[in-house]
Amino acid sequence: MNSPVPAAGRAAGATWSATACAHPNIALVKYWGKRDLALNLPATGSLSLTLDTLQSRCQVAPAADGDGDGDIIVLNGTVAAGAQRARLATFVELALADLGGRPRLRVACDNNFPTGAGLASSASGFAALGLALRAAGGGALPPAELSRLCRRGSGSAARSVFGGFCRMRAGERPDGADAFAEPLAGPEHWPLQVLVAIVQRGAKAVGSGEGMERSRMTSPFYAAWCAGAAGDLAAAAAAVQARDFAALATVAEHSCLKMFGVMQASLPPLLYWSPATLALIDTVRGLRRGGLDVLFTCDAGPQVKAICTPSAAPAVARALAAVPGVLEVIGCGIGGGAQLLEP
Ligand code: PMV
Repeated sequence: MNSPVPAAGRAAGATWSATACAHPNIALVKYWGKRDLALNLPATGSLSLTLDTLQSRCQVAPAADGDGDGDIIVLNGTVAAGAQRARLATFVELALADLGGRPRLRVACDNNFPTGAGLASSASGFAALGLALRAAGGGALPPAELSRLCRRGSGSAARSVFGGFCRMRAGERPDGADAFAEPLAGPEHWPLQVLVAIVQRGAKAVGSGEGMERSRMTSPFYAAWCAGAAGDLAAAAAAVQARDFAALATVAEHSCLKMFGVMQASLPPLLYWSPATLALIDTVRGLRRGGLDVLFTCDAGPQVKAICTPSAAPAVARALAAVPGVLEVIGCGIGGGAQLLEP
């Protein structure tokens, strides 16, 4: 596997200029709930696969004179403001805190897919941003440390540091030193396809951070959800190692539906699905009954991700596109980890 950090490390010195990209990842065993809010520590581990095709790209450079006070943060071509800016600015400070004095920066992040709509844009965005910031500051980190840093931006970003299949450790330490992701198998191990059925393009009503906290505080199913995670992780890791599609489908769909059970039992309830979401799930289950290797999963939004073998992909794509309410089906393979593009 390629190292997601530049080999030169700290000795390269700070240029304050770097560009990095990363891909979203899709959890097969889901993360929903935190054991520590300030450090963004997950209550449970998770297991994911990283996509190709969909991508976040972050560019860091010294801000030009006369640009005003503080860092300039631009998201998808628009200067970020309010809570969105605050979240990104906090991460910029955190990522560079140990690197001494620095110039005012211009940070520009772009996604080639819908932002904040349940497509894991925060995972790819913070993984790319963490890598770009550390490279710009001359403080490149080894992969596990980069994963730990990116976790502070978004829990799932810890996983996008790596390609292929990866596993996130919840850890036990109060300081979060043991809460980071690790690779489980590279993209070539099992070249599955992921077909993302887009049913809504706008941002979701309740962000995952707020939603998770609501579930932790109010869902009567939350404790059972956390208690089941270790068994799901072991089963999913074994299914990935053995390339056992049927076993992976059982555990991944169960993890997904349990997460939605926890969400729906929260108060006020979290209802991320639209009618098309359920129709898509029904379609995937029908295709599997018909003999195709395909499973569904969803995140904090109405989109459905169908994961299938390459031979099943054309039929799955056609069936998903025919479901009323589907706006677009995006096909992805399994991708690599976060990469530095410049320098
Ligand atoms: O990393 P966050 O805070 O965006 O949370 C991700 C939550 C889910 O996508 C619903 C599940 C997961 O493990 O990716």
